[in-house]
Amino acid sequence: MKPAPFAYHRPTSLDEALALLARYGPDGRVLAGGQSLMPALNMRLATPAALIDINRVPGLDGIAVEGDALVIGALARHDALEHSALVARHAPLIAQAMPHVGHRAIRARGTLGGSVALADPAAELPACLLALDAVVHAAGPEGAREIPAARFFRGIYITALREEEIVTAVAVPWRAQAGARASMSSPGATATAPSSASPRTVAWTTASSARRVLPSAASARCLCVPRAPRRPWSAGPSSPTGPPKRRAHSRAIWTRRATSTRAPPSGDTWRACSSPVAWARCSVDATVAISLTVNGAPVRRRVEPRQSLVDFLRYEFELTGSHVGCEHGVCGACSVRVDGAVLRGCLMLAVQCDGSRVETVEGVAATGEARDLQQAFAVENALQCGFCTPGILLTAQDVLARRPDPSPEEIREALSGNYCRCTGYHAIVAAVRRTAEARARA
Ligand SMILES: Cc1cc2nc3c(=O)[nH]c(=O)nc-3n(C[C@H](O)[C@H](O)[C@H](O)COP(=O)(O)OP(=O)(O)OC[C@H]3O[C@@H](n4cnc5c(N)ncnc54)[C@H](O)[C@@H]3O)c2cc1C
Ligand code: FES
Ligand code: FES
Repeated sequence: MKPAPFAYHRPTSLDEALALLARYGPDGRVLAGGQSLMPALNMRLATPAALIDINRVPGLDGIAVEGDALVIGALARHDALEHSALVARHAPLIAQAMPHVGHRAIRARGTLGGSVALADPAAELPACLLALDAVVHAAGPEGAREIPAARFFRGIYITALREEEIVTAVAVPWRAQAGARASMSSPGATATAPSSASPRTVAWTTASSARRVLPSAASARCLCVPRAPRRPWSAGPSSPTGPPKRRAHSRAIWTRRATSTRAPPSGDTWRACSSPVAWARCSVDATVAISLTVNGAPVRRRVEPRQSLVDFLRYEFELTGSHVGCEHGVCGACSVRVDGAVLRGCLMLAVQCDGSRVETVEGVAATGEARDLQQAFAVENALQCGFCTPGILLTAQDVLARRPDPSPEEIREALSGNYCRCTGYHAIVAAVRRTAEARARA
């Protein structure tokens, strides 16, 4: 369960990112939040020749009102959408949907652009964008184009995005907001009222003659807005901008690429590269130098681009508190703090942490920051084998830092992304409550 080797590029401008994407073609992959791509890499469902990490491309994470639309940058994280006052005011549907996306650690990394480009039919954001008549902005070698959501989402994991294009932003018009608000106040409008719906009741689907945004329950109300009949994608172009192509993210496509025999170009290192783009971060077999702080200590290392953060911490520093469980973001055993946010160590590459502040449970224990919480776990008998405990401690400490007096329900919700297989959550929740009460008294 480790990724196959790949080159890693960290462009610092959109032009550079597009040049890299054009250079690698279908063998290059944009890396945004990594919360969907990294599991596919870990399971070798995807074996791209290169990752193009757009996280340091400036100007892609903004949220602003422009004219009659709320424009949200592709790198805006789910967490930012959840807490943005602008989104709450101008696109409340999106703000209300966000708490239902995975868990807090996933939302801290996952991005709007990644969710849009992936077009997972179970995902919240594509459903919201369809309901709100949003427009997806994309940039490619031939310039920028704007694609209405109804034309962008073509099917399950299929979009109108071309291989060499990058989603740069999404514009949500005011007109659609008024309609969405009306729908949310209508009885039975569960598709647009995530607060009263299970996260999994929101789904979207497309048909050749109509666009529908549906909860999966057949009885629920439909927000269908009829569209002109469209030819299926295989029947040829349906837009003046060119033939639609499958944006390949489905399991079948991941697998096809995983079995591709196309090898990375030989000599593909920063030294051999003749492109005008500065390939400073390019390496296939080579290691990359990074410097960061780990539990307060500055460190420098050379890492293979494919090494996950959790493996890096375990193998380089013997910080074995962060465990490796599922390696696809589900169990939370690998939780670490990066620049103050609790994240999945299995869904982040060590090379991405260049310049970051990384903290593990060992560091938190050493500073005494969570000593009372650790003691409460012992008093409440909130651990048995201890496999989940470091991740749960970090997550619980994060909850208490953000919300000093969480209710048992809030604690359960916050810990829902951390699997404990043997203790059971009753004692764990009691330990967190005990700590909250003690801190309040202190
Ligand atoms: C445990 C777990 C639970 C989850 N639960 C939910 C959930 O309940 N609801 C939900 O909606 N999602 C869920 N997700 C998915 C999560 O929201 C992802 O973050 C999201 O689907 C993809 O966003 P990303 O930024 O992580 O994209 P990445 O993983 O970085 O990329 C995903 C794909 O999109 C491409 N891509 C990324 N950004 C761009 C761009 N700007 N332009 C072009 N292509 C791009 C990548 O090349 C890749 O093919 C979950 C994930 C995990 C691990
Ligand atoms: S090992 Fe990372 S979430 Fe399970
Ligand atoms: S204490 Fe054993 S998995 Fe939680």
